[in-house]
Amino acid sequence: MKKFNMAVDGTSGVGKSSVCDIIADKLNMTHLDTGAMYRCVALYLKEGNTNLEDLSAVESALDNVHIRFDGDKVILNDQDVSKTIRTNEVGMMASKTSALAPVRTKLVSLQKEIAAAKGYIVDGRDICSVVLPDAEVKIFMSATAEARAQRRYKEYVSKGMEVDYKQILDDINQRDYQDSHRAISPLKKAEDAIEVDTSELNIEQVVNKILDIIKEKVD
Ligand code: DC
Repeated sequence: MKKFNMAVDGTSGVGKSSVCDIIADKLNMTHLDTGAMYRCVALYLKEGNTNLEDLSAVESALDNVHIRFDGDKVILNDQDVSKTIRTNEVGMMASKTSALAPVRTKLVSLQKEIAAAKGYIVDGRDICSVVLPDAEVKIFMSATAEARAQRRYKEYVSKGMEVDYKQILDDINQRDYQDSHRAISPLKKAEDAIEVDTSELNIEQVVNKILDIIKEKVD
């Protein structure tokens, strides 16, 4: 199989990251989780109390953001933030700060640079349309808000966390709304992306479906 890139978009909680991790492993490719990058920026802006209304302040703060991946670890300015960025709070913040033009400009150009070498599976919201419009394989993963809330609820409960299903569903709906209604690069399926509805599928079935699509598109 020749070296190729795969772009994967989808709503929050649809399972993009887990699926991309497994496929990257199977095909010996590198998974670039762009959501983690937006989460790092959100964390940095919050910790620095940056005024989000002041775009030049945001722009100068961004000059000090250095993100790198070390295996499974996400490193922000030499600090391992892998766990900190996964909280719901940082996710909600990332949904807000990712709507800011300077944030998108910086991260999109970084992502394009990284994936230029090919062999990447890049997941996010604007990958098929903006970051890698020429990717050999383009996937849009979807699932109903209820299916995603159920999965997240089960995941939290299995970790012994006390959670409220209704709250999880409300948060998912709110993030869907924010991500798909922002002015710049709102989440939407690119015309030439293949939709994979995961509502009724388990991870293995989703992985197999995407592997079949890859086989068809790449020789
Ligand atoms: O996929 P995630 O939940 O880790 O993403 C966190 C937030 O970052 C999400 O609400 C929207 C934003 N995001 C984006 O705008 N563009 C991307 N390519 C990836 C994530």
